[in-house]
Amino acid sequence: MNERAFASDNASGVHPRVLAAIAAANQGHTPAYGDDPWTARASAALCEAFNSDAEVLFCFGGTGANVISLAAVTRPHEAVLCADSAHVWSSECAAPERFLGGKLIPIAHQFGKISSAEITPYLGPGRGVHHTRPRVVTVTQPTEYGVLYSREELRELADFVHQHGLLLHVDGARFANAAAALGCTLAELGPECGVDILSFGGTKNGLLGGEAVLIFNRAATLHADYTRKQAMQLASKMRFISAQFLAYLEDELWRTLASQANQMASLLVTHCTDIDGLDFICPVDCNMLFPRLPQPVITELQKSFYFYTWDEQESIARWITSFDTTETDVLELSSAVARIISALGH
Ligand SMILES: Cc1ncc(COP(=O)(O)O)c(C=O)c1O
Repeated sequence: MNERAFASDNASGVHPRVLAAIAAANQGHTPAYGDDPWTARASAALCEAFNSDAEVLFCFGGTGANVISLAAVTRPHEAVLCADSAHVWSSECAAPERFLGGKLIPIAHQFGKISSAEITPYLGPGRGVHHTRPRVVTVTQPTEYGVLYSREELRELADFVHQHGLLLHVDGARFANAAAALGCTLAELGPECGVDILSFGGTKNGLLGGEAVLIFNRAATLHADYTRKQAMQLASKMRFISAQFLAYLEDELWRTLASQANQMASLLVTHCTDIDGLDFICPVDCNMLFPRLPQPVITELQKSFYFYTWDEQESIARWITSFDTTETDVLELSSAVARIISALGH
């Protein structure tokens, strides 16, 4: 098995600066549950990076961050609109629905992107109390297909959502990859686009484990910190999550790491361009690639490289590059694809 996997960006390890920050925080005793100096500094650093006086809630995982974000602003008779490809809908074992006590409504999308046109049919009065009331639209940036909303698209979506009295949540498990690809700041892609709540990922981009919920629209939530505790995402030794975020934000380490992952994905596309029998089903905007390949080629390739088959019937694989993917890794994978395709006569 190739030690550099293309299965997911959380198959990668921890960036040395993040590990060093954890080690540096490992001194003496400090108040638990986030009442420590690291958490105060990391919260302030996030507010600075996002140019907002957001409420910051550090938590363990991406599913937990989404659950807190959505549960903090919905009541059990309310609904969350999302693409039917959304992680919250397809890959969180109904955790959001369990914690919200409400409903997720999956809607049509294009490679994970939704627009006002897809949302509109769900905004009518319905049958009054017989239907749930939409309260939040959640989008993933970049989508689960690695496709980006431009800042203009996000801003338009936020305006539309707000005009209808709803809130906009962004699942940003790979938000750093999006901001790096778009060449903008975190603030420009978050609050400046009208995002109300963001699940800001770290784990997929070099942290050992840590995500942050950022509530930009503080008026929309009540006691979100209690929601975090109920959702079992309040770390007692929080300093070790906060210390990771301090390292992540220092000199924009997040951007350096995400840019490397993005650049390796784009290099992989370049190396694969001339391979007959391979095409990418959607644009490669960040660090996720969806190549369509003959099934026997996927099977043969998986003997040496660790990655997932995305859609068996359509013969589509998923490759994800990480902050530590190298040009050699990319060359090895693309050369193997070319070799196997020609050997199997496709
Ligand atoms: C878009 C997206 N959101 C959220 C998550 C949730 O992450 P976790 O596995 O930490 O719960 C993932 C993980 O794959 C993801 O891809």
